[in-house]
Amino acid sequence: MQLPRARTLIHGIGTLVTPAHVPAPVRGADLAAVVEVPGAAIAIDEAGVIIASGPEADVRAQVAIDPDTELYDARGMLAVPGLVDCHAHLVFDGDRANEFELRNRGASYEEIHAAGGGILASVARTRAALDAGTIAHQVRRNLDWMLAAGTTTAEGKSGYALTLEHELESLKVLASVAEQHPVHVTQTLLAAHTVPTEYAGRPDDYIDEVAIPAAERAVREGRASAADVFLERGSFDRAQAHRYLTAAQRAGLTARMHGDQFSDQGGIELAIEIGARSIDHLEALEVDAPRLGELAASGVAAVLLPLSSLFLGRPWAPGRGLADAGAIVALASDFNPGSSYGESLTLAMSLACLGCGLTAGEALTACTVNGAWVLGLSDRVGRLDTGYRGDVVLLDQPSLQHLPYHVGTPGVRAVFVGGLEVVAQGDRS
Ligand code: NIG
Ligand code: FE
Repeated sequence: MQLPRARTLIHGIGTLVTPAHVPAPVRGADLAAVVEVPGAAIAIDEAGVIIASGPEADVRAQVAIDPDTELYDARGMLAVPGLVDCHAHLVFDGDRANEFELRNRGASYEEIHAAGGGILASVARTRAALDAGTIAHQVRRNLDWMLAAGTTTAEGKSGYALTLEHELESLKVLASVAEQHPVHVTQTLLAAHTVPTEYAGRPDDYIDEVAIPAAERAVREGRASAADVFLERGSFDRAQAHRYLTAAQRAGLTARMHGDQFSDQGGIELAIEIGARSIDHLEALEVDAPRLGELAASGVAAVLLPLSSLFLGRPWAPGRGLADAGAIVALASDFNPGSSYGESLTLAMSLACLGCGLTAGEALTACTVNGAWVLGLSDRVGRLDTGYRGDVVLLDQPSLQHLPYHVGTPGVRAVFVGGLEVVAQGDRS
């Protein structure tokens, strides 16, 4: 029998850690089920797919290694699957460092938003940058930051343009940047992010005249696989979110939702009712609320965004309660200029443990296989196993526990996408 040929062999791995082979989405007690293999190797074929992984001697016996096989010595490092960021805002101009200062001196996020700052400040800049054709390099930089932090698959939302043409253009630019970038990107239309100035006081008109037509066009033009809404006082209410998301679903998009960030607007009930893929944020969800059990029993993923809790000084979402109640828990960065200017999923893991009460294994599952499930990719990414894409992060850490434990120092030394080394950091000699 001819053995499959390894194009890449990553050997000398100190410990390989991967979510166990439980079908996705992973929920409840299975969230903590990770496999830890000491002395491991990973073999990846010409197509960029893992053909063997596990104890090094087993891997070497299962594949053909020839003089052209690229050999990477991991020198005892920890290997985890390429991280999957299932909630990230990627297309915006500039930043809002000024608001960071204001908030740190006491202004609240909602006050800044109500005064025309916040999302609307980014919208004005983003429209101008789209018109001037100057946004692509910023999107590319965001993806570069993610990749350096170990993220190999990410969602990219629009939502800072809020006209029909600009929202579509945001997705178009994202697609063209992503095509040339190692990070695998899925596209989400966040046309219903907030009500733009020209529709002030007329959110229903905005939904009907801009958001829904944008969803329909995004599908016709193949620009998005999901639609998202910000269901919150000051943005869109439950009826508007329902109208937009169900229209998007009819057009063929998966429904996502920003919900229970500052207040309960019936988001969990709506997400369950329409069969949304996820409800994200949940900082306003009380651990003893009956809705927590309803969410946990449903097929809707609870996406934790603890970097935004840190950034805005908000409560931690009840991750422990959700996991214990059997929920599909995912973990993402919420990278954006206003409420979470940070792309590090390893820091998100630290906060998911310290703030939301997850274990290291649960946090890893949440930002690998479950993130992949939220994006509809869990058959391809999120695990270090045969048949999955050869997306691997090598970290200078002695164990999985050290990933969240060593706060702010992830120790990412190398990132592989499809078996090719795309990031090399620090001294590997
Ligand atoms: O997920 N909550 C709404 N949207 C973003 C924040 C956007 C911004 O402030 O620019 C979020 O936190
Ligand atoms: Fe968000």
